[in-house]
Amino acid sequence: MTAQNARVVALASGKGGVGKSTLSVGLGTAAAKAGKQVLLVEFDAGLRGIDIMLGLTDQIVYDLGDLMEGRCNISSAILECPFCPGFFAIVAPAQMTPMALQDVELLVSGLRPHFDLILLDMPAGLGFSVQASQAVADNLLVVVTPDPVCIRDGNTLVQGLTRAGFDRHRLIINRVSRKLLRKQIVQDLDEVIDGVGSQLIGVVPEDPEAQLAAAAGAPMNDKSEIMRVCAAIIRRISGDYVPLILC
Ligand SMILES: Nc1ncnc2c1ncn2[C@@H]1O[C@H](COP(=O)(O)OP(=O)(O)O)[C@@H](O)[C@H]1O
Ligand SMILES: [Mg+2]
Repeated sequence: MTAQNARVVALASGKGGVGKSTLSVGLGTAAAKAGKQVLLVEFDAGLRGIDIMLGLTDQIVYDLGDLMEGRCNISSAILECPFCPGFFAIVAPAQMTPMALQDVELLVSGLRPHFDLILLDMPAGLGFSVQASQAVADNLLVVVTPDPVCIRDGNTLVQGLTRAGFDRHRLIINRVSRKLLRKQIVQDLDEVIDGVGSQLIGVVPEDPEAQLAAAAGAPMNDKSEIMRVCAAIIRRISGDYVPLILC
């Protein structure tokens, strides 16, 4: 690993099942393919899925719980994705006792010099994800789907972040179906942005590639819509101007 000083980007949501892990994998894959050293840390204990999505199930000996509770050293908890060189992960444990914020800070500050990008796949909800992001993240991506419940929960998360003094958040609207948008069955994207209260950084279409790849434990196709949007978001995070196009 080369010496870097990683940007730390958390993915969080009010509601569960909105695509945080899928997008963490898509963003990590896009960044690694652009030549960056990437680490994905999965904090969603009990609901892990990164091991399957990154084709790591056969390789796991230690997970984040083992690392935080001192049963292994850091290098034995970091696994490289077999289909994407330069993309590493620490997977969540099946269950874990609550993590102290100081331990999260120690972990992330120890990892920063070794990577270009560290993605934190947070559990849904306000508590841990707000506190840990406030403590260690440079940016936070609020992930929502364009339905009223998710928008309200996204707004609750943004309010929690604001109360914690964290304003470096951006919005990803995931699973947008052009057909439903046209028929006005899902909410208009401007309404979603206003409803959540965070500036938009990406609109990710509904794409069966997400489920097909996850089920196969295989990479998402670079040319798929979801991966093209992930590559654009990675460039925007790095400060490049990339127009927001609903493809
Ligand atoms: N853009 C998308 N298009 C189609 N399916 C998606 C998309 N994003 C996520 N999914 C699917 O939604 C489900 C939940 O995604 P996941 O990433 O596990 O959510 P979370 O980590 O927020 O709980 C999975 O079945 C995943 O394949
Ligand atoms: Mg998840």
